[in-house]
Amino acid sequence: MSYFTFSNATQDQRRAFALDVHLGLSAPQKFIPSKYFYDENGSKLFQRITELPEYYLTGAEAEILKTYRESLAQYFASEPFALVEMGAGDGEKTKILLEHFLARGLDFHYAPIDISESALSELELSLSEQFPTLSFQACLAEYASGFSEIDNFSEARTVLLFLGSSIGNFSFPEIKLFLKTLWHGLNKGDFALIGFDLKKDIKTMQAAYDDKEGITKAFNLNLLHRINRELGGTFNTEKFYHHEIYNPKESAMESYLISLEAQEVYIDALKTTYRFAPYEAIFTERSYKFSDSSIRELAHETGFEIVETFKDSKQYFADSLWRVVK
Ligand code: AVI
Repeated sequence: MSYFTFSNATQDQRRAFALDVHLGLSAPQKFIPSKYFYDENGSKLFQRITELPEYYLTGAEAEILKTYRESLAQYFASEPFALVEMGAGDGEKTKILLEHFLARGLDFHYAPIDISESALSELELSLSEQFPTLSFQACLAEYASGFSEIDNFSEARTVLLFLGSSIGNFSFPEIKLFLKTLWHGLNKGDFALIGFDLKKDIKTMQAAYDDKEGITKAFNLNLLHRINRELGGTFNTEKFYHHEIYNPKESAMESYLISLEAQEVYIDALKTTYRFAPYEAIFTERSYKFSDSSIRELAHETGFEIVETFKDSKQYFADSLWRVVK
């Protein structure tokens, strides 16, 4: 493997997973952090979600990047830069920018960060095949830790990419904290291009997270399969159903796994039995939906100025280009 990673990662990651599962399943409102969706199976399922007709987010953002790639190139062209991408996944949308920036002769190095080993190695392979002249170094890490490692690589201007509305998987206070942490690691004049899924008709959002083919359901249930596989759990996934709902108070789509009956689940790695009441829910994911004013609030309260916000033709999604103010 040629990507950048940390020693003992697998052991430590498994221990952290076990601890988080224990914390979540012992809480009064059970939860499992959504970052655990992305094992090899979950990353493949997420890739299939991005190809679903109901999951409008990917198509809307691809439209934005195609339409405005030259506007973006003009903002970045004046000096060499490091294009650091948090949560790169399969990199499909980013390739729209990479191809254009290479064709325009921009001087840049690409540094994709992701927590999925399988997604990163596939990305590496496809980048070498599609863009033989691209300078890149992939990093296997969670967003923030990967970012602080990569940021030490060069003195060049940083252009941070955080696409796909992955920022919406944090709560609003967590988003602010995360952006402030990023701000500390960036220099005056660095850029961040951030994807925000916008508030829209509730049925459209609901369909995106409860598709007809049941891929999102499989993605959600994969959390329980992963606990079975990696921690020796005894979840019977047929005894849980996938529930998606838009919470207008929180401005977020929320995902749950709901226990169909009273049941007990033993997890060997934790030597613990967890009890579920009939219809008890495990909260698995929040996907925050933004407005122009919430995007403005986030930028201004975390030390950025908005340079330009690009939207798709349906106004479903926004990629907002921010500059660090210091
Ligand atoms: C990665 N993230 C932005 C996706 C979302 O829309 O919140 C994950 C996802 N969950 C269900 N479908 C897709």
